[in-house]
Amino acid sequence: MTKKSSYTTDGKVVTLSSEKDVNLRLAEIIGKKFSDYRDEWDKANNMEIVTDFPLFLHLDMNQECNYKCPHCIIGTPAEVKEYYEGDYINFDSFKKIIDEGSEHNCPSMEPQGNNEPFLIKDLHKYIEYAHKKGFIDIMLNNNGSALTSKRSSQVLDSGLTRLRFSLDAHTPETYSKVRVGSIPLERVIRNIETFLELRAKGNYKLPLVGVSFCKMKQNEHELDDFINFWKNKVDMISVQTYVPPTPNIDKYKIYYSTDQLNSEPINEFKCVQPFQRVVIKNQSIAPCCVSFNKNLIIGQIGKKGAIHKAWNSEKMNNIRDLHKRGEFYLDKTCNDCVNLIYPNNQIPRN
Ligand SMILES: C[S@@+](CC[C@H](N)C(=O)[O-])C[C@H]1O[C@@H](n2cnc3c(N)ncnc32)[C@H](O)[C@@H]1O
Ligand code: SF4
Ligand code: SF4
Repeated sequence: MTKKSSYTTDGKVVTLSSEKDVNLRLAEIIGKKFSDYRDEWDKANNMEIVTDFPLFLHLDMNQECNYKCPHCIIGTPAEVKEYYEGDYINFDSFKKIIDEGSEHNCPSMEPQGNNEPFLIKDLHKYIEYAHKKGFIDIMLNNNGSALTSKRSSQVLDSGLTRLRFSLDAHTPETYSKVRVGSIPLERVIRNIETFLELRAKGNYKLPLVGVSFCKMKQNEHELDDFINFWKNKVDMISVQTYVPPTPNIDKYKIYYSTDQLNSEPINEFKCVQPFQRVVIKNQSIAPCCVSFNKNLIIGQIGKKGAIHKAWNSEKMNNIRDLHKRGEFYLDKTCNDCVNLIYPNNQIPRN
């Protein structure tokens, strides 16, 4: 567990991999098309290229969850109402989105946003559809509460590449505080173990399985024990930087980790998300996963070619240019976002 690699490359998620780097392992399993896609991803992340179509379709399918984690927007229904609009993504609209991605050889997607994906009945059919349409990297986070052995078997046959279980705690006491409304931690651990047993029994190479820990003031003392407990059980451990989900800083600042509060001011920030992905939030197309990005919406799904059009729109090009120049502070939403991630930011603001 010495190797560190960042696969979002915006630095907000760090992966500790017990074997080879996660992407190298996936390249070994999936082959050249996977390494080609990662090469392109790295170039996009370095802002060296702008692809003709996003490399990643991130689908914020609905805003339904059985938990109410206080650090997540879903824990505050009034904020969900304020920042989300439009109908949820049903199977028909999902297929249209995937079909458009497939026409453009889009390699990666995630059918989960601010929700619990396994509350979607037949989620495995959504994954299977994307897999059969040529997506080679399909990933999910989930809270581990709804993954029964029957659903685990369905997921193992679906074509999913990466499955992460968000735990954010090592002890039941902390788990129930940071994952409000949850089932007991020991049942979630049993669900993860069952999934791993089924994967081993069936000789499945995929999905790679990880656990994740969003590091906050309330749980940071458990991070080392968490890593020690999981390091020989799963393929990857993600440690996420806490990001206040809305600019309501008075409410959310209590979750900043000690490291974040003591961090050095940043000199520069260039956001890579608009070079990688679109996030489809219900019916709206956005350049990033931030919940309060209404002003950055670049289109609506529905019409044929809507994603390609939004990705190549003047507005999207302007957002990319702004970040390429390092001038995030010229956009109010980006300025709020950067200042929430980096509480000690001192880059002059507009
Ligand atoms: C929004 S959840 C949705 C999927 C699923 N319900 C789960 O909990 O994994 C996706 C990931 O975002 C993380 N997350 C939630 N609120 C966050 C925050 N304020 N900052 C950073 N990560 C957060 C969760 O811990 C989880 O790993
Ligand atoms: S389980 Fe996931 S979506 Fe649900 S409230 Fe917690 S972090 Fe948010
Ligand atoms: S709000 Fe701006 S800086 Fe934040 S993730 Fe979105 S595009 Fe990037």
